[in-house]
Amino acid sequence: MAGTFDRHRRLRSSAAMRNLVRENHVRVEDLIYPLFVVEGTNIKEEIPSMPGVYHFSLDRLKEEMEEIAALGIQSVLMFGVPEHKDYCGSEAYNDEAITQRAIRQIKADHPEMIVIADTCLCQYTDHGHCGVLQEGQVDNDETLKLLAAAAVSQAKAGADIIAPSNMMDGFVAAIRQGLDEAGFAHIPIMSYAVKYASSFYGPFREAAHSTPQSGDRKTYQMDPANAREGLREAASDVAEGADFLMVKPGLAFMDMVLRLRENFNLPLVVYNVSAEYSMVKAAAANGWIDEERIVMETLVGFKRAGADLIITYHAKDVAKWLRGE
Ligand code: PBG
Repeated sequence: MAGTFDRHRRLRSSAAMRNLVRENHVRVEDLIYPLFVVEGTNIKEEIPSMPGVYHFSLDRLKEEMEEIAALGIQSVLMFGVPEHKDYCGSEAYNDEAITQRAIRQIKADHPEMIVIADTCLCQYTDHGHCGVLQEGQVDNDETLKLLAAAAVSQAKAGADIIAPSNMMDGFVAAIRQGLDEAGFAHIPIMSYAVKYASSFYGPFREAAHSTPQSGDRKTYQMDPANAREGLREAASDVAEGADFLMVKPGLAFMDMVLRLRENFNLPLVVYNVSAEYSMVKAAAANGWIDEERIVMETLVGFKRAGADLIITYHAKDVAKWLRGE
């Protein structure tokens, strides 16, 4: 029989041999950690459906940032949760709003930290949609002006990367033009290019207070049944000047990570979203799964599918595990 079949097990014979032939790795540099910042003082409040993830006021954000930096995490994704919400999301493009203040504070304390600003209107509008409404419908082109203004305001505050998550048509072009005209031609855009209308955002909407008050996001976020449409979305964003492409959510959409990797050469980001985190945390709290192994297998799966960067609420735990803590 010898020689008539392949001996794949030769390369799995010991831990050292497996290390030698390992194709993909998760590094702390690959991780982007989302942060939720609120107004007020002395607030560090756990989000009930996301154990280990908190709302921070700016003063308490300081100690969190010390910990994040000490863990070697080098990029964070900012979500400001303002108290004042109105019809057109004016806190999104107010230079003194919570998101802008948080960005300024982090850049002052940690100039080397990459601060990525999520650019959307849903946390800022009283109706909770990602754009302005005209007769109950999201008005695409009116929204673009506000998104560009929000991106410029975030860049002025010191954001290193603008990450628009709103899924309007033409948002990359509008934001690119806005940034360029305001003197921010050097600031890259990380486009949430392939973003689905997903039930996996539930815990985030609790955290960001961004649930739509009526209707849903299905007229702007993608149908989870579609793959080719994702390639069209990504092609538009590349043509409009995106510097990074993102797929969101992660686990149920890993095929899209692979498809984008095969079709485009921009750095590729996957968002391991809130419910993916909550499900792991709930099962781990019940003692049903080995949390560390489940998380590391998930993240290396994203790398194997072709992701370069991973936005994940597990980032702090992963940074500790990578150090063997
Ligand atoms: C804003 C935005 C959302 C998420 C990131 N940016 C929510 C949404 O589109 O409803 C979700 C992130 C997560 O679930 O972790 N548009």
